[in-house]
Amino acid sequence: MMKKKQKRKPKIKLQKTKKILKKSKEIKKNKFKKLKTKKQKNKEPRKKGKYSPKILRGMKDILPEETKIWDFVCKRLTELAESYGFQKIETPVLEERALFEKSTGLSSDIVEKQMYQFTDRGGNSVVMRPEFTPGIVRSYIEQGMFNLPQPIKFFCFGPLFRYERPQAGRLRQLHQFNFEVLGSAKPVVDAQLILFSQAFFNTLGLKVNIQINSLGCPSCRKSYRSKLMNYFRAKQKWLCPDCQRRLKTNPLRILDCQNPDCRELITRAPQLVDDLCSECQSHFVKVLEYLDEANVIYKLNPYLVRGLDYYTRTVFEFWPERPEKPINDSLLQGEEEKKITNELQEKEKELFSSPSALGGGGRYDNLVESLGGRLTPAAGFAYGLDRIIEEIKIQDLKVLKSKSPQIFLAQIGEVACRRALKLFEDLRKQGFKVGENLAKDSLKAQMEMANKLGVKLTLILGQQEILDKTIIIRDMHSGNQEIVDQEKIIKELKKRLK
Ligand code: HAM
Repeated sequence: MMKKKQKRKPKIKLQKTKKILKKSKEIKKNKFKKLKTKKQKNKEPRKKGKYSPKILRGMKDILPEETKIWDFVCKRLTELAESYGFQKIETPVLEERALFEKSTGLSSDIVEKQMYQFTDRGGNSVVMRPEFTPGIVRSYIEQGMFNLPQPIKFFCFGPLFRYERPQAGRLRQLHQFNFEVLGSAKPVVDAQLILFSQAFFNTLGLKVNIQINSLGCPSCRKSYRSKLMNYFRAKQKWLCPDCQRRLKTNPLRILDCQNPDCRELITRAPQLVDDLCSECQSHFVKVLEYLDEANVIYKLNPYLVRGLDYYTRTVFEFWPERPEKPINDSLLQGEEEKKITNELQEKEKELFSSPSALGGGGRYDNLVESLGGRLTPAAGFAYGLDRIIEEIKIQDLKVLKSKSPQIFLAQIGEVACRRALKLFEDLRKQGFKVGENLAKDSLKAQMEMANKLGVKLTLILGQQEILDKTIIIRDMHSGNQEIVDQEKIIKELKKRLK
């Protein structure tokens, strides 16, 4: 008997476990289904066998809600750039491949693996620009701009293309706002570029930290390079495969690696500042003195190298300042925790996600000469606009003043619609921002839209008003309606919206 009982027990347990497993599988399946339907809710269903267009990986549509922020940021930057004496320049999206090989550098990630390149119909090897600086330097040399009073300051913005592994903050079509100062070796130029950035981030209210380093000149880098080589050679087996290759091609690039094992080794690597020649050291000290004088808060980062070959002396980057993640893993506690919504969880994830640089740059004193121009010291930097816009959203900055209309113009019937079309133009010319939906016939739908826009007044034109040459003014707050002559409407609106 004992034996039988003992044998039966596990059977029941097994059945129970199977049931639980089945149930949990069902739950998972349903959850997945729910997730799927949520994701697909707003998308057009795909028809079998039909071509359905799809955006390319790493590319992004910028929809009207976002273009408002883009326009605002670009306008602010243009105003600021002009007030610092920068002039706008535009260079082509397509350039010769050789231009980037000789400037950005053969061992840079950009040239090595990220360029969109092709042979055009004329057999020329061309690339879609992955950065602005080489194109601007080419233009400076080709257009003889060294004959103009120096230094010469340029700004530009637009799309760039890098075939990167797409992830948060990393696009294949990215946008930069870029600044260059050509024709001066003075440290004050470097300092003013950084000061410009502090002014820009302050106007947006964006919390950013500024990191700075000096890469010295080719001669001081030579001795540092061999020190670095010796240090990493002894630890070669712990380096990632990319860095093992970098050890042979350009050991300085190892300092840029984000692999956690490599980062561990980097924190104990020799620092370039200890090897700067006296001129480079004096240049760096002066830059820092200027920054201190102007109350710029910066962090010295001895391992900041940047990923492009042309830099000499000062380099800098701008990083978003994010709050420290609380130890309990959540922003919310107790009662609050119960109210967690997906949106909040998303926000929390964004806030504590590892950030990417919002911009960076530095001095490039030898680039013009190496591309065939005269010896022309220069410096510059670029903001990643896509990342700045994302950061504005993450830090929840109210950068836009609401420009929503104060008036809504509603119409009922064909004749009223015709009159409203003309009235809308008259009001617009008088400087009123007017909401409308002339394509809708139903008054209810139009009133719903007026409510959504939060307008103060709604003008209603119906058949009776057309006959009487009048118009209804509805105060959306009190609900009171008044009939006024169409002729007096502008005067009446000016009085009410004073
Ligand atoms: P960069 O560091 O390669 O420098 O790019 C500048 C900024 O562009 C980055 O800090 C980042 O914000 C943004 N960025 C870069 N790659 C991506 C990407 N795949 N997706 C989104 N944003 C990205 C340069 O390009 C230099 N030409 C800057 C410069 C100007 N140096 C001197 N003058």
